[in-house]
Amino acid sequence: MWPKAVDEILRYHHNGILGLPRVATEDVTLHGVTIRSGEGVSCPMLAATHDPAHYRNPHRFNIHRTTDASTTFGAGPHYCLGAPLARLFLDIAYRALFTRFPDLIPAVPEREIPWEGNLLFTKPASLPVAW
Ligand code: HEM
Repeated sequence: MWPKAVDEILRYHHNGILGLPRVATEDVTLHGVTIRSGEGVSCPMLAATHDPAHYRNPHRFNIHRTTDASTTFGAGPHYCLGAPLARLFLDIAYRALFTRFPDLIPAVPEREIPWEGNLLFTKPASLPVAW
């Protein structure tokens, strides 16, 4: 199940709340909203990977999904070139970690884990564990 688990980890919590800023190079209308040439747009990938129209119960962590996390890596001509490599790295790293420490658990309640975030990336400032 590791490839599926990696995809769900990537879908569930990956980058920050703002996402990648864009500037419209021409007028464009999306979902009834017109964005004028030169206006800035923020594209939070997290909103895409938590879109209930695409992911059933998106706030539930579920490694049995049939949908994947490809929007984590963007879309269109700038789709992440490193996506297969990132998936491979994570697959190898998680397998190795949980093979070595099969009983690994968080050492503090989830709500006590301190998060550090900027608008592009969020991550735990520290993650105490026990085994
Ligand atoms: C979990 C890890 C990663 C995530 C979540 C991620 C996410 C993204 C996203 C969202 C984009 C699209 C940027 C845009 O639309 O402007 C992107 C682009 C890109 N990523 Fe990644 N990335 C990851 C790992 C990697 C790795 C490991 C590499 C290289 C070894 C890589 C290389 C690139 C490159 C070169 C682009 C630019 C593609 C282009 O503009 O044509 N990424 N990444």
